Amino acid sequence: HGTSKINAAGHLEIGGCDVKDLAAEFGTPLYIVDEALVRQRAREYVEAFRASGLKFQVAYASKAFCVMAMCAIAEQEDMSLDVVSEGELYTALQAGFPAQRIHFHGNNKTPDEINMALDAGIGCFVVDNFVELHLLNALAADKGMKVNVLLRITPGVEAHTHDYISTGQQDSKFGFDLGNGAAYEALKQAKELANLNVLGVHSHIGSQIFEVEGFRMAVDKVSAFAVQIRNELDMTFQVINLGGGFGIRYTSEDSPLPVAEYVKAITDAIISHFTEAEYPLPEIWVEPGRSIVGDAGTTLYTVGTSKEIPGVRKYVAVDGGMTDNPRPALYQSKYEAVLANRANEPLEETVSVAGKCCESGDMLIWDLDLPKVQTGDLLAVFCTGAYNYAMASNYNRIRKPAVVFVKDGEADLAVKRESLDDIVGNDVLPARLRKAS
Ligand code: LLP
Repeated sequence: HGTSKINAAGHLEIGGCDVKDLAAEFGTPLYIVDEALVRQRAREYVEAFRASGLKFQVAYASKAFCVMAMCAIAEQEDMSLDVVSEGELYTALQAGFPAQRIHFHGNNKTPDEINMALDAGIGCFVVDNFVELHLLNALAADKGMKVNVLLRITPGVEAHTHDYISTGQQDSKFGFDLGNGAAYEALKQAKELANLNVLGVHSHIGSQIFEVEGFRMAVDKVSAFAVQIRNELDMTFQVINLGGGFGIRYTSEDSPLPVAEYVKAITDAIISHFTEAEYPLPEIWVEPGRSIVGDAGTTLYTVGTSKEIPGVRKYVAVDGGMTDNPRPALYQSKYEAVLANRANEPLEETVSVAGKCCESGDMLIWDLDLPKVQTGDLLAVFCTGAYNYAMASNYNRIRKPAVVFVKDGEADLAVKRESLDDIVGNDVLPARLRKAS
């Protein structure tokens, strides 16, 4: 997929770069980002929205993969940016991302984070709860500012991985509940707060969703709510944000739809509801994360040791694992992989790929068919662009890998590999524990 292919040498090539060369230059484990594919995914969203005729913003959910190079690409591709912490906000600002196009999310923004975002002049706060509603108004008032807000509502559509269920009452830490009147009350209060400018509402129903039905149900609920709020509170929503959650294909078990189909389902439903209600068509915002970067990422590992338990299985260990990809351990996520230095060879054995952390749960892939694996081979695991680097840890004091962006035969370092000095960089050895010299 993307620009990946097997070259004449039988090596995996991404963005015109032979991954064996990338391993030699940058070392392993290595996150490789297919820049052309990231840009293609971004354009699929932007073009699908343009086709609808509605005003829109596609805000890249930076939580999926937030590094300065990625923020720069998001800006170039006309996306906005969703951040959820001071760290993501800082990364975006350091990359020169325009503050006006930044949206700040999160269910527990601290006063410091809110002040930082106010000072930066971000475009919108997505307010999650009553405490934040009043805190934000007070902090904006202190600075003599009036800030744009969306109120995050919980529409009572609970999306699961492969299906969805409609729940009358949703048990979630996020947002103002639509069903129990909290969302209505929040808008009523927000209307009276002098330093907030309510643009509309936000709803996010889940992640890695394949069907359009959940999004359609969310639009139905939000649209009906918009009409109720207009009629009873005399407030008009200029913006409706439908969150992220659009699924991608990790393995052959996954069957996502093309991006354009999710967008069309949403925009068609919006246009029909609002036209019918004689309500000015709102601007539609979405926040895709995984579907922008997920399939553009590949993690390259070097095979080290192996262990065969006759009649049971063969374990093959790589030089990374749950520290660079915690998703199999956390969510039982499945991945596909190839032997990148012998990608043209026939599959001869079934192995299970282990990481190098000191726990049995550190497994990346169970029962993977590969050519006969040898120490020193390169293993490429696909679809690691989202929630991998972003969720990487230093467990066992393992260094975080480097990240390279590849495009048209060029490889540019986007994140340096951590050094051993980085590992102890924040450690302090108290004087009383130091050895006398
Ligand atoms: N907007 C909001 C408010 C969200 O909470 C999320 C994801 C997104 C947008 C982006 O969703 P996406 O398009 O990426 O599905 N760590 C998990 C995924 C957590 C998603 C959290 N929120 C994983 O590795 O699968």
